[in-house]
Amino acid sequence: MRVLGIETSCDETAASVVALDGGSAPEILSPKILSNVVLSQIEEHAAFGGVVPEIAARAHVEALDGIVEAALADSSVSLDEVDAIAATAGPGLVGGLIVGLMTAKAIAAAANKPLIAINHLEGHALTARLTDGLDFPYLLLLVSGGHTQIVAVRGVGDYQRWATTIDDALGEAFDKTAKMLGLPYPGGPNVEKAAAKGDASRFAFPRPMKGSAQPDFSFSGLKTAVRQAATAIAPLSDQDVADICASFQAAVADALGDRVGRALARFRQEFPDQAKPALVVAGGVAANRTIKATLEALCAQTGFAFVAPPQKLCTDNAAMIAWAGIERLRAGIADENSADFVPRSRWPLDSVSAPMVGSGRRGAKA
Ligand code: KG4
Ligand code: ZN
Repeated sequence: MRVLGIETSCDETAASVVALDGGSAPEILSPKILSNVVLSQIEEHAAFGGVVPEIAARAHVEALDGIVEAALADSSVSLDEVDAIAATAGPGLVGGLIVGLMTAKAIAAAANKPLIAINHLEGHALTARLTDGLDFPYLLLLVSGGHTQIVAVRGVGDYQRWATTIDDALGEAFDKTAKMLGLPYPGGPNVEKAAAKGDASRFAFPRPMKGSAQPDFSFSGLKTAVRQAATAIAPLSDQDVADICASFQAAVADALGDRVGRALARFRQEFPDQAKPALVVAGGVAANRTIKATLEALCAQTGFAFVAPPQKLCTDNAAMIAWAGIERLRAGIADENSADFVPRSRWPLDSVSAPMVGSGRRGAKA
């Protein structure tokens, strides 16, 4: 099975070919990423301190043909040999989604191949099966610029969202903190770099939601606390910035540990037969070493395996989209998608859980 994946939901233009060869033991997955081409638009957005949707959509239009061509060339698989085209159809910036999905529809129609519309979050959710061959069920912590969720991954197409943010996504909180402190975009890596030279005990920032029975996340109060602290001691020296970053990062790691700890306990209760349950992390924020170390320690304490796929498969890419396509084909649930599929800027992975507090008519923000 060979699937061409296309990803354009945010500021990465990506295409990839992933293969799954049918061996003698079909239950043992041995997928191969034959190509994985990702073009980041970071430089085009940096001057604006964040992703500008219109610039992103135009950049996808300009780059996507070449990226798809490169992914096919790198994989040495021709379009004829591909079994299906999988493209991110949501959630994300609608301009980019339209570019990716329309391109995929055109390729699928011209090559007479099926089109599989993929939920971007499902791509993140299933990556650990591509990289680590993980069995269902497992727990996923997705922390990126657009999403902060804990999801129980029970099977292909069977996801239960256990927690989400009621305001900002965690990556967004890093990016906004960086902006307040005059650090360049994207904020996360720069906050982490500055924090390495700072004193994490200088500012006692709040640990949002810590101890709350409600499993969700919140970061806007922390962001406000950072702004107040920064304003109170302005103008900021490099050491002040480093101390604020270190204190912010410590607060985030602490709050995250509390929230995830709660979810691990619930997972144990709901899946008591699993001898070695696993926590998977995905999303750009998972690159943060302080956060990673906190989660790793938590897993060690509670007997969970800690699975962190390689960073280039944790951040946005098309291999995860191609893989989700393969998973859907294998599970026989790809047929609900057709050439008529319309991009969805909001598309919750789990349509059963109640919408978030504070979320709009069309669903939660992140
Ligand atoms: O998954 P990702 O590459 O893209 C999407 O959000 O779709 O995540 C990007 C986010 C940004 O908000 C960035 O600031 C954050 O991940 N990030 C980090 C780190 N590296 C990237 N946050 C904290 N520490 C890092 N080292
Ligand atoms: Zn993503």
